[in-house]
Amino acid sequence: MIEHFVDPLRFVRYIEPFLGGGALFFRLGCAPAILADLNSDLIDTYRQVRDDPISLELSLRALEVNPGTFERMREARPEAPLEIATRFLYLNRTAFSGLYRLNRAGRFNVPYAGDRAMSTLWDRDLLTLASRALQGAKLVVSDFEPTLAEAGRGDIVYCDPTYTVSHDNNGFLRYNESIFSWADQVRLAKAARAASMRGAAILVSNAAHPDLNGLYPEASCLTVRRYCGLAADEKHRGSRTEYVFFIAPAPSDR
Ligand SMILES: C[S@@+](CC[C@H](N)C(=O)[O-])C[C@H]1O[C@@H](n2cnc3c(N)ncnc32)[C@H](O)[C@@H]1O
Repeated sequence: MIEHFVDPLRFVRYIEPFLGGGALFFRLGCAPAILADLNSDLIDTYRQVRDDPISLELSLRALEVNPGTFERMREARPEAPLEIATRFLYLNRTAFSGLYRLNRAGRFNVPYAGDRAMSTLWDRDLLTLASRALQGAKLVVSDFEPTLAEAGRGDIVYCDPTYTVSHDNNGFLRYNESIFSWADQVRLAKAARAASMRGAAILVSNAAHPDLNGLYPEASCLTVRRYCGLAADEKHRGSRTEYVFFIAPAPSDR
């Protein structure tokens, strides 16, 4: 749905400050791109995929999928890029629901779930295909604000911040405080507006919560349904409603 807003032939750069799994980026296959996320293990993994997917595949193939190996990977604190990427993808393919969650001490705390189609990474050539798509991408570990600050005329920016709707509307602000706070939402809206004033086109997908409308008074707002299979609690998985805000670029002076 969102890709209908985006014509890959008509922008200078594609910028995604909350990269996560990069669904839209991989769908569009756009270059040049700036792809950023606060999660350094995630960005290190993408760098490894971009620069040497073969070594990563060999390293993953060498690992058995069983609770013992999972525990060892979960406790590991690798520093070399290949090992960081191996651990990240191994946990992604064997942890419950593919969740990535750290406890307060910064330790990965999602339980073992067994093999979640690890072999599709090579059977369907996913690492090689992803590597190809990433060749024109600058991968950055960053908070979203400096990434948005890079956007200028002709760029398109897609922002997909983290939020939970696991609680009712009254709990939306409270339960998001530790994930992506209301102050972060305000900061995002301000940075998005500034980038649009410099000539970038901005898309922000967000919770369908009435308070968020007030942050984007100048935007067109589309209500969409999106599938979410990531919630820890089964009753929160499935299709959910989201807003997509589109802020058009300010016209140029010329
Ligand atoms: C909802 S996910 C993005 C999902 C992505 N669109 C996809 O296709 O998978 C949000 C991402 O934002 C990142 N994130 C959270 N807070 C951030 C911040 N302040 N700045 C940059 N990235 C942040 C998280 O690490 C997570 O990867």
